[in-house]
Amino acid sequence: MKEKIESLLEEVEKFKIESKEHLEAFRIRFLGSKNAIKDIFTDLKNVAPELRKEVGLQINALKNKAEEKFNSFHNSSENTEEKTIEDYSRTAEVKPLGSIHPISLVTNEFTEIFKRLGFVVADGPEIEDDWHNFTALNTPADHPARDMQDTYFIQQNPDILLRTQTSSGQVHYMEKKKPPIRVISPGRVYRNEAISARAHCFFHQIEGLYVAEKVSFADLKQTLQFFAREMYGEKTQIRLRPSFFPFTEPSAEMDVSCSICNGKGCNICKHSGWVEIGGCGMVDPNVLNNCGIDPEKYSGFAFGFGIERMTMMKYQVKDLRLFSENDVRFLEQFKAV
Ligand code: DAH
Repeated sequence: MKEKIESLLEEVEKFKIESKEHLEAFRIRFLGSKNAIKDIFTDLKNVAPELRKEVGLQINALKNKAEEKFNSFHNSSENTEEKTIEDYSRTAEVKPLGSIHPISLVTNEFTEIFKRLGFVVADGPEIEDDWHNFTALNTPADHPARDMQDTYFIQQNPDILLRTQTSSGQVHYMEKKKPPIRVISPGRVYRNEAISARAHCFFHQIEGLYVAEKVSFADLKQTLQFFAREMYGEKTQIRLRPSFFPFTEPSAEMDVSCSICNGKGCNICKHSGWVEIGGCGMVDPNVLNNCGIDPEKYSGFAFGFGIERMTMMKYQVKDLRLFSENDVRFLEQFKAV
């Protein structure tokens, strides 16, 4: 009996466990329903009564040893289990975390529509100089139109500022490229405005510019009409109201018929049936000149729209502050597809 216990103990100690299969074989041999240790427990009744207690303790020790060994290998194999490519790709199939910000959704859609019309996308810097943001855009230092755009200047150098409009992108592009030019530039702009449901100290615009020979106001109107229908649906109407911008002549403000109430009047359009999304016009010859383009030969149109405005109408968002607060309850509604 004693020898049997000792030899089983040796077997437990020496048993090589290097794979799941070995572990299972070990389990069957020492812990399964018909295991080797159970057999000697059955033999215990044949042991002389005065030795029974001692032998019983030895068998128990053997059983504990087998259990300990099994548990230690079982736990470590769970952690180090080799993963196959399939395991990882199954993880990759899990639906995407996070969501696309509504401002990005609208920017992407806008960009796609204009790409179909042959426009390219170009970026401009957010930290700008006076020339690109104002002076080249026919807005010299003493121009009253500067007052409309409460500007953040850099204290050490008043020539450097945070751009107040993406129109600065027009200047960069025209300085580098020759007509025909068809470009849009989306981006963030900054103005020193009090933060409210309808205004913020930073927001987003998208600028558009088309310069070629014989570009007319009719081309502008046609392009904007096409855009509005692609963005807000076939029945969408646009309205151009006379306005003033130093860099366009003539200039207009563009309204889109409210896609929420179909022009009948609601909170989003303040019961007017129309939502203003930005300005547009024919590029002023002075601007072309400032950028090295001959205004006798070329003409062009430009527009600049507020992305927050367009997004508010598209998704019925009533408070502009929601776009920058990062509240997941708001953002989660725009799930990645
Ligand atoms: N930059 C103007 C603004 O921020 C918007 C604008 C108006 C852009 C007319 C244009 C334009 O390109 O032609 O208010």
